[in-house]
Amino acid sequence: TEATKTAAAVKAPVLPDAQTVTEVKHWTDSLFSFRVSRPASLRFRSGEFVMIGLLGDNGKPLLRAYSIASPSWDEELEFYSIKVQNGPLTSKLQHINVGDQIILRPKPVGTLVHDALLPGKRLWFFATGTGFAPFASLLREPQTYEDYDEIVITHTCREVGELEYGRQLIENIKQDEMLAELMGEGFHEKIRYYPTTTREDSPKMGRITDLLKDGTVFKDLGIAPINPETDRGMVCGSLEFNKDIKVILEDFGLREGANSEPKEFVIEKAFVG
Ligand code: A2P
Repeated sequence: TEATKTAAAVKAPVLPDAQTVTEVKHWTDSLFSFRVSRPASLRFRSGEFVMIGLLGDNGKPLLRAYSIASPSWDEELEFYSIKVQNGPLTSKLQHINVGDQIILRPKPVGTLVHDALLPGKRLWFFATGTGFAPFASLLREPQTYEDYDEIVITHTCREVGELEYGRQLIENIKQDEMLAELMGEGFHEKIRYYPTTTREDSPKMGRITDLLKDGTVFKDLGIAPINPETDRGMVCGSLEFNKDIKVILEDFGLREGANSEPKEFVIEKAFVG
């Protein structure tokens, strides 16, 4: 009845910074993406992250850092997440449905932003696993195509199914008429997509770190090796991955930059657990 509905509404705990889920897609047993409403006041730079989460059993917000996977102009916010069966947040978050609410603190931060890089010709995105998320944002950001002649996106996952979110996103970008209008016809011809797997057969196997070190990537793509004059990089993966890529990029002569001091590459740890 109306009376009980009102009583329930009055008693329901008010979620601080609540946003409403508008879409949920499950990609594999351990990966899903979802979209939520965007707070009217939220401005962010493509590539940044925010704290999101749910109310924990103790009634306190349980929050984790999540890269915003949607571009800065999008009217909704998209996120890409792993599901950890005993993970404090993702064990619950994986069960959200359209219409549910999540908590979203509207304070975007992060280093994977165009401002943290010096001008260049070729931009590399290096991702493992859910580290693809900030690049899902930057691949839909007009500035990416205004600032660079070529964008190489590498994504290394254990299994083929884990590449699917990124693969479909790039496929959809190519067919999106609104993006073409925003960024200019043919903008997507600048994208070079280089997916690899390490534990399941696929056309390109191996860790991107090894494929960079032995020159396979450059041979496969028919491009010159990484060079500090022309190449810029953004890295998002596990701690170990980030450490290894950093050494490789430094060996090519690139230096790590930051918002306050733009250089040739920037690194951010992907959300884990
Ligand atoms: P591998 O299967 O050889 O460990 P994870 O799921 O462990 O985060 O890994 C995601 C992907 O990143 C996997 O394909 C994994 O390869 C790869 N990977 C993990 N650590 C590194 C690293 N230090 N350098 C390069 N690739 C890595």
